[in-house]
Amino acid sequence: MAPKILVIGGAGYIGSHMVRCLRQSSYDVFILDNLSTGNRRLILGNDWLEGSLGEAGLLERLFETHTFDAVMHFAAFSQVGESMSDPLAYYKNNLSETMVLLDAMIRHNVKRFIFSSTAAVYGEPIETPISENHPCRPTNPYGNTKLAVERMLSDCDSAYGLKSVALRYFNAAGADESGDIGELHNPETHLIPIILKAASGELDRIKVFGTDYPTEDGTCIRDYVHVNDLAQAHLLALDALLSGEESQVYNLGSSNGFSVNQVIRIAEKVTGKEVPVMASSRREGDPAVLIASSDKIKRELGWKPSYTQLEPIIETAWKWHRQQSPTQTT
Ligand code: UFG
Repeated sequence: MAPKILVIGGAGYIGSHMVRCLRQSSYDVFILDNLSTGNRRLILGNDWLEGSLGEAGLLERLFETHTFDAVMHFAAFSQVGESMSDPLAYYKNNLSETMVLLDAMIRHNVKRFIFSSTAAVYGEPIETPISENHPCRPTNPYGNTKLAVERMLSDCDSAYGLKSVALRYFNAAGADESGDIGELHNPETHLIPIILKAASGELDRIKVFGTDYPTEDGTCIRDYVHVNDLAQAHLLALDALLSGEESQVYNLGSSNGFSVNQVIRIAEKVTGKEVPVMASSRREGDPAVLIASSDKIKRELGWKPSYTQLEPIIETAWKWHRQQSPTQTT
């Protein structure tokens, strides 16, 4: 019988790509999503329930009626700026609710867990590329909550034998090649979808947050990794846990950095449209350069990202973007 995986946040951007990837690999998938930031139209299939990971009664019923081999958790709030203005919402959603979930898992003897962590756990880098051994000193509540969960996972391994893999994403980007699912945030804060909105005229222009960083062109450098490559890495992590491997933490990036201006130029090439730009002040909490070393997961789990260039990543995002009507993307 195929292993059964509970995907929490399966109606979100990365979660929906994960569901597709699991189903393509013949896993049995059940989705839990409260649709607070997820979107019903990204849900693939009928095996899903609307609800939150913090609802103890609902989890109790879920774990009583299904036998899960593992849980994947994509249901966090993930905006740095929002976490600065409303930290308690982040501690509640990202930390307390995950605690309720882990408690239910342990009581029902479900002891394999894949966690969506973030580059934000590192804070301001002291060296680049960033490896997993880099000190973790988050500079915002979002990063604090993710690091707190990582520590809780480590303690749960020692005490209850809960095996987990925490995957520290750098900048997730792109969309499934089919163009059926993709990034659909409201409001949208991420660079590539905003650039594509500016290219298609849905936005007047893109504001470039900071042009005086100590980088070659003065704009921030980020490491963009295709969402399906992220999903493949989760699959490898899942297979490792299901075959009895120990808990781990891995970075997920492409190891290539692109500045905001470079991303705009590449998007102009992909779309064939000019992207109107306005230089703006720095956004609070943005480090100048974030580039991952993903050597550890490549070495230990054989992860091989299929997208090594930014242009094809943006092509998939553009394909998805063009399938949306303006009312659905704003
Ligand atoms: N940017 C702009 N204009 C915009 C939007 C973004 O110039 O309208 C810039 C940002 O300042 C940053 C870069 O584009 O330099 C990328 O910004 P994103 O918001 O797309 O992504 P971040 O790097 O801020 O965030 C990502 C993840 C977070 C994670 C963080 C780790 O989305 O979840 O990396 O630092 F916390």
